[in-house]
Amino acid sequence: MPLWNSRFRKPLAESALKFSSSIDVDRRFYNEDIDGSKAHVQMLVKQKVISAADGKAILSALEAIRRDIASGKLTMHWRDEDVHTFIEEQLVKRVGERGKRLHTGRSRNDQIALDERLFLRREIEAITALTRKLQIAFLRQAERHKKTIVPGYTHLQRAQPILFAHHLLAYVSMLQRDRERFADCLKRVNRSPLGAAAFAGTSLPISRTQVAKALKFDGLVENSIDAVSDRDGLIEFIAACAITMMHLSRFAEEMILWSSHEFHFAHIDDAYATGSSLMPQKKNPDIPELVRGKSGRVFGSLVGLLTVMKGLPLAYNRDMQEDKVHLLDAVDTTSSSLALMTELLAHTIFDSGRFHDELEGDLSLATDIAEYLVAKGMPFRKAHQAAGKVVSACIDKECLLHELSMKEFKAISPLFEEDVFELFRPLNSIKRKISEGSTAPREVEKQIRSWGKLLRAR
Ligand code: ARG
Repeated sequence: MPLWNSRFRKPLAESALKFSSSIDVDRRFYNEDIDGSKAHVQMLVKQKVISAADGKAILSALEAIRRDIASGKLTMHWRDEDVHTFIEEQLVKRVGERGKRLHTGRSRNDQIALDERLFLRREIEAITALTRKLQIAFLRQAERHKKTIVPGYTHLQRAQPILFAHHLLAYVSMLQRDRERFADCLKRVNRSPLGAAAFAGTSLPISRTQVAKALKFDGLVENSIDAVSDRDGLIEFIAACAITMMHLSRFAEEMILWSSHEFHFAHIDDAYATGSSLMPQKKNPDIPELVRGKSGRVFGSLVGLLTVMKGLPLAYNRDMQEDKVHLLDAVDTTSSSLALMTELLAHTIFDSGRFHDELEGDLSLATDIAEYLVAKGMPFRKAHQAAGKVVSACIDKECLLHELSMKEFKAISPLFEEDVFELFRPLNSIKRKISEGSTAPREVEKQIRSWGKLLRAR
């Protein structure tokens, strides 16, 4: 039986009830709903709105309901409409008339807004912990590959040799900003909407602040109309998830590329790869492909919820019930993607010798030639041109940089001397870097140390 049926002459049509039931989704909030109800009841007792005896009966019944839902003894059906209705009806079944006092000074509008904030608070903490674990997995691989030299790319064209650790640490930085975004979102989420009632407040002597304190909120969403009307905290959270997924999708793409026969650089553990039902030789990188694909789902949730909220007049509108599918899907997809990427990365072997020979004298050292000439006094624009001529000579002769003769170098610029040949070892190129945050071993070591301190400290 709905909570509101007395003014109606007919029961709600079966089809309409089924269509409007949200319990298949909001059942996941039962713990938050019970936590919120308990805090509300305790406040009602303190404020003398209900008696201590009624309060006590309600509190212990709510705990019993929580246990029975957790153990599977109690199950929810779409006919129960939503998690709030279900719990309240159970309460009345257990403590009779007393249970009917629970909803005093409260509406499902502020109740759902509260449940969502309690849920988000916990999920933000969980996702932050998962993100930190992934950062640690990146850091471990970076420590393993402090000396591994790989080609760095721009436009997916070989650009300059770098330390692989440097590349991996870029992701540690991105994920750190993701964590900061979640932490920042939490500041706005961690405020209590309860006591807004339907939207206008109540004539009953409730204390919103008491409830907020009991539930460890930082304060109130003060304006009661705002408290039940907005979902910007959810949108902000999903936006943070979307950005995290965008970051994950980039690493996923790199794992896919690197595990191809052509790159032959990343060896994904068999436990995280799949085969083909037709081609017996195949080992497919399905996990990173799925992460890449699932990023689209989270972007969809963001646009989905923005679209639900767009143009809605104040205050509560039933449209807003559609917020939860987007929220929950974004939470689940982002959490599982973070967890799987962490496992995948921890179990991947990167071949540290893969590019060793390939980068000797490689044209990707051309920038070093230009900088060499600049160090000898040539203006950068001219040096860039001269280095371009060296590259062009190599292309004509189909040879590597160190295979050109001193005479050929001198013909391009008299500033070239024997020491130019030292440039053509990729490790020298890397070591020559001196700018902060560069790929130089010293700079990379510095980053590894500071991330280690930050991520391992607890
Ligand atoms: N199931 C509803 C939701 O998720 C709860 C609030 C219902 N409020 C109402 N006035 N019908 O939004």
